[in-house]
Amino acid sequence: MFLGSAFVQAYSLPQSIERGKEVYTTFCQNCHMENGQGIAGTNPPLAKSDYLKHPVNDLILLVLKGQVGKVKVNGVTYDTPMLPLDYMTDEQIADALNYAKNSWGNKSAIAIIPAQVKKMRN
Ligand code: HEC
Repeated sequence: MFLGSAFVQAYSLPQSIERGKEVYTTFCQNCHMENGQGIAGTNPPLAKSDYLKHPVNDLILLVLKGQVGKVKVNGVTYDTPMLPLDYMTDEQIADALNYAKNSWGNKSAIAIIPAQVKKMRN
């Protein structure tokens, strides 16, 4: 079957989440743990994290530039620096965030796409 619309294929959120599982294992899991629970007292959780409801650009910037200073997650304050991960590709950052935003009880129907990450690098 041939459809003209095949040329403007939409970004697939399910596929990004699928890729994101491996990206998360490589780049995030050491600190935020496999189940997204983090490490009490030092590394905040991503599981059911209210911080993940921040505007997408803030989340992208946090991964690109790191996060230094106090941060409050689900009412608990953390103050351990997260180092910048700007050596990750645009796609890896989008996939990792889409995975985190759709795992361990988190749900977001709106995909973060690589072009948004690219824009925040400047
Ligand atoms: C070296 C350890 C480390 C790695 C690797 C790491 N983080 Fe973090 N992350 C932290 C710490 C520590 C904080 C809290 C920063 C603070 O206290 O200011 C944090 C905070 C966060 C936050 C905001 C608070 C929250 O819990 O919701 C998000 C979102 C986040 N990280 C996502 C990621 C993602 C996605 C990756 C992988 C691409 C990643 N982190 C990799 C240690 C890490």
